[in-house]
Amino acid sequence: MSRLVPLLLAAALLLAGCGGAGGDADPGAAPAATGPMTFVVGKDTTSYFQPLLDRWNRAHPADQVRMLELPEAADEQRAQMVANLQAGSDRYDILALDVIWTAEFAEAGWIVPLDRGMFPLDRFFPGVVATAMYKGRLYAVPYSTNAGLLYYRKDLLDAAGLKPPKTWAELREQAKRLSREHGLGGYAGQFLPYEGLTVNFLEAVQSAGGELLNADGTAVNVDAAAERALEFLTTGVREGWIPQEALSYKEEETRLAFQEGRYVFARNWPHAYGPAKNSPIKGKFAVAPLPGADGPGTSTLGGYNLAINAASKRQKSALEFIRFFTGIDIQRLVLAEGSFPPVWAELYDDPELIKEYPYLPVLKETILRARPRPVNADYNQISLVIAGNVSDALAFRRSGAETIARLREQLIETTRNP
Ligand code: GLC
Repeated sequence: MSRLVPLLLAAALLLAGCGGAGGDADPGAAPAATGPMTFVVGKDTTSYFQPLLDRWNRAHPADQVRMLELPEAADEQRAQMVANLQAGSDRYDILALDVIWTAEFAEAGWIVPLDRGMFPLDRFFPGVVATAMYKGRLYAVPYSTNAGLLYYRKDLLDAAGLKPPKTWAELREQAKRLSREHGLGGYAGQFLPYEGLTVNFLEAVQSAGGELLNADGTAVNVDAAAERALEFLTTGVREGWIPQEALSYKEEETRLAFQEGRYVFARNWPHAYGPAKNSPIKGKFAVAPLPGADGPGTSTLGGYNLAINAASKRQKSALEFIRFFTGIDIQRLVLAEGSFPPVWAELYDDPELIKEYPYLPVLKETILRARPRPVNADYNQISLVIAGNVSDALAFRRSGAETIARLREQLIETTRNP
């Protein structure tokens, strides 16, 4: 009897293994498993998601998808997903993965490799598809891309005869002047220490012509561009055109503050555009590319890709769902209903959509010029170092020079092979 137990166990493991749950599975070799599924996604702060899911659910009564909303901040979403996946839980079937998690999740074997031939990837932006790849294989399918924009009060700039700022000097000048004249906040971004601050800082560094880390995050280059980037942000706080309160902003706080008419300028993702169209500043705002140190800046590439939990028992249905949800019909609604940037390139040239979202050409340009964050399985560590140090400087807990030195030292330490 006691001999039989290990044998049975081995057989069970073998059976479980043939589903191809690990990172070495054949692409598309998902087990033939269908049924109701759970889709985990960051908090749907603008409530656009459920109606899209309903479209799938109406057509697939046996394979219903239930949405499970995680917290709003990217870091907290990651923490919950990691805790679950590490435990080998099959609670989540489909994961909405921030573009920066592909490497980590693929490396850990938490998500299944996918057969590229099953998706119309050549119709998507190539840079966006790259965020779903790791070591030459596809691990997720792009669902929504993202690029930071400068939201500005067109009414106030027009009245002052000003054009949207292209440089930090212009931004500073206009933010100082208009905030004083109108009793408003000058400029807000995402300055709380979390992924959002990392994004804002990386944007500033690259908009000063630098690059903190190379493409795979193995080489560190904290140089004069990083110093200028830090100087830009700390000057804003010191001079007050970045108000103290903005140091606790994530995307949602920035969105609300701007649409309530409390700021002249805000850096935010495109999803803030739709709600602002029906807000107190309706008809009074516009968006422009982010300004840079000496001319137009560039954004960090954001977005979400859909992946399948390697421990899911519904992998066949999950794959079908992902095909549906990344198809052009839903993608059109992602923009039209959610104001999130779709991944299909052709939608940005669609006259109907441009009528509704006149900033689409600006957005397309911004996405095409946006820079990916380093593709590295330890990206989370890298980001914590960046956000932590920048936050200390913004709160004047440490000087700019000290911050830059620590940032360099800690990034080198973190990226040194463990
Ligand atoms: C947005 C972006 C994501 C980024 C996050 C940072 O959700 O799509 O890529 O990591 O913001 O807060």
